[in-house]
Amino acid sequence: MSYHEQQPTVFVVDFGAQYAQLIARRVREAKVYSEIVSHDITAEEIERRQPAALILSGGPASVYAPGAPKMDPRIYDLGIPILGFCYGMQLMAIDLGGEVPHTDIGEYGFAELALLESQSRLMEGLPGTSQVWMSHRDSVGTAPEGFCVTARTAITPVASMEDAARGLYATQFHPEVAHTEYGQQIIRRFLHDIAGIPLVWTMVNIIDEAVDRIREQVGSDRVICALSGGVDSSVVAALLHRAIGDQLTCVFVDHGMLRLDEAADVVRVFADQFHIDLVHVQAQERYLDLLDHVTDPELKRRIIGEEFWKVFFEEATKLKGVKWLAQGTLYPDVIESGNKTAAKIKSHHNLIPFPDGVHFDLIEPLRALFKDEVRAVGAELGLPDEIVQRQPFPGPGLAVRIIGAITEEKLDMLREADAIVREEISSWDTERSVWQYFAVLPDIRSVGVMGDERTYAHPIIIRAVASADAMTADWARLPHELLAKMSNRIINEVDGINRVAYDITSKPPGTIEWE
Ligand code: XMP
Repeated sequence: MSYHEQQPTVFVVDFGAQYAQLIARRVREAKVYSEIVSHDITAEEIERRQPAALILSGGPASVYAPGAPKMDPRIYDLGIPILGFCYGMQLMAIDLGGEVPHTDIGEYGFAELALLESQSRLMEGLPGTSQVWMSHRDSVGTAPEGFCVTARTAITPVASMEDAARGLYATQFHPEVAHTEYGQQIIRRFLHDIAGIPLVWTMVNIIDEAVDRIREQVGSDRVICALSGGVDSSVVAALLHRAIGDQLTCVFVDHGMLRLDEAADVVRVFADQFHIDLVHVQAQERYLDLLDHVTDPELKRRIIGEEFWKVFFEEATKLKGVKWLAQGTLYPDVIESGNKTAAKIKSHHNLIPFPDGVHFDLIEPLRALFKDEVRAVGAELGLPDEIVQRQPFPGPGLAVRIIGAITEEKLDMLREADAIVREEISSWDTERSVWQYFAVLPDIRSVGVMGDERTYAHPIIIRAVASADAMTADWARLPHELLAKMSNRIINEVDGINRVAYDITSKPPGTIEWE
């Protein structure tokens, strides 16, 4: 069953590329709810679940490769409007009697799309030529019977085709990619004008529906939520609070590895502003003891993770009558753990180490949402910008940004230096072009001179990267003046630091964090 049964839903049929998620997001940006389904979905299941339209994604395979993903061809006859992109177009062509010859003439990157004279329903209103994004080797040579070819590029004679009478449309280019000039317009036209889907996936509806769903699920039960101050857990807390008010208790485990003022901000926002029942566990000492002399980054992570759940369940079991544990699982986690075609299958990270005799049912109110939707929900619920636009921050926090053993003194140094880095870059980066920036404290000391005195102290490494998704990243080309200012401030204001270095490594070969 669709997660949102009452919403008109578009199914994005996944042929195994990274494109499916992007398409699903674009559909939602066009205010229509979308879900990703595997290409082996049957016509019966589609009939039963009644999507309002289908979009066939691109895929990495050649349609002729052995084992290339196929789709049940009876789906074309269900009368549901279908739009295919790239691989999806080629498959549609072959399934319906067209031809995809092996030309081996690929087209990658920008191309100029020229509309043909035939009237295109899909591309109505577009200029005669526009820029599109291509990424393919083979392409359709002959469109199936009943289709007309509606556009071409210099290399690809059938750049788009349609059989409007049957509601079938396809483009060889990728409308979901930002480089395709009128891509979102094409998607909107298909959804709204051709498939006639109403624009109901709006922030207000998303919240109303989530609130109804939570109330229905938990009734008068109590719910507990582990709050970290990160985007996902914060939005879960705010949403649950909107739905069930004081039936919610949040537990905030302060492991002492947080950035400057972070713990105080969590208390200010959730306890003081939202009036959420907040248990603030001051576990700093406990963590420092456990991490004493621990230098291995994986061990640090394990200790912090295991201890987190210990502390959390100690608190949780003190509360009476709690039935539910809320979790900030997002839609990409759901897809990655459940999708057979995704190249990389991550094990579901929701394995919570319940202690013996302890169990809560899970409630995951963000399960259907993408990260950008979660941020928008958070903003709509009144969470401040510092939370909803927060940079990624490792769960074990500064523990991974201190190389070697962790001490209170090092934590203080790093916190102060990091606050300077964040303050300076954020006031310079008004367009938010830098994905993530922070300070790292390595496990070395070097000689310096301050005033007349020789120093032997730590350096701070500044890390700032541009990235779209943290999978790859490039070091940010920060202006020299900004680097100079940070360097001066850190050395003058932070005791124990006598040198500042800037990391100019991209990912790969580096990673974003140091650890
Ligand atoms: P790396 O260092 O592998 O990091 O390039 C990729 C991204 O993941 C973030 N990161 C984490 N995020 N919990 C998180 O929520 C973690 O434990 C964690 N460790 C790394 C990192 O900041 C970067 O954005």
